[in-house]
Amino acid sequence: MIIAQISDTHIALDTPDADRRIRDFERTIDDINSLDPAPDVIIHTGDIVHNGTLDEYVLAATIMSKAKLPIHLMVGNKDDRFNLRKTFSSSGYLASNPDFVSYAIEDFSVRLLMLDTLHPGSNKGDFCEDRISDLVDLIGAHPERPTAVFAHHPPFHVSEGPDPLHFQTDEIMQRFRRALQRSASIVGIFCGHVHRGVAGVVGNIPVLVVPSIATTLRKGEYPPELTTCPIYHLHKYDPDWGFSSEIRIVRDQ
Ligand SMILES: [Fe+2]
Repeated sequence: MIIAQISDTHIALDTPDADRRIRDFERTIDDINSLDPAPDVIIHTGDIVHNGTLDEYVLAATIMSKAKLPIHLMVGNKDDRFNLRKTFSSSGYLASNPDFVSYAIEDFSVRLLMLDTLHPGSNKGDFCEDRISDLVDLIGAHPERPTAVFAHHPPFHVSEGPDPLHFQTDEIMQRFRRALQRSASIVGIFCGHVHRGVAGVVGNIPVLVVPSIATTLRKGEYPPELTTCPIYHLHKYDPDWGFSSEIRIVRDQ
């Protein structure tokens, strides 16, 4: 079971680097298509587009239509739930929750829980009581099955960057962390949002954060020859050994 995780493509029509963001996304899809063995699924952990407009989602959908694998999407702070649903509703998997874009993917040896941490109008995340309740229900549907969580905002302090807290308040983040630890079935948490590769923990659960696909928005130090190379993660799940993750660099052609 191999998951290709991408994040923060920030597709936009109105920025000077718009063409490069499109190209970064296209090259990433091409690279995933070339992998052998092929992953089983692509997960996008949000900030698919930059302004949440339908035009941007239509463009993002065109790019993603080139993927040979199914792609499952999660909203980030730059996304718009309504326009996301409008563009991708035909895929079927977004319909389970009318309020939030939270859902489970049951097709693989590890369950994938996609959790919506969007707080509209804010860059910081939220996880309200309704979403706690949804999470308890999602976990409770198959509490015996190993489960991986995908969410946009990392539920730990990221010391690099201007502000370590990526939720509305520390209390909200702690509430989310407690909810994630209520079941022993969650074996990994995978996020985006901070545009840099970092790692953390929630109790005993490891958390990995993938850099942004948009290379113009990526944070952190990279050698000059890699500044134009998108980076994503491959998470391999083994029932006996759990997850092992590696960084994939999309080299210039
Ligand atoms: Fe982002």
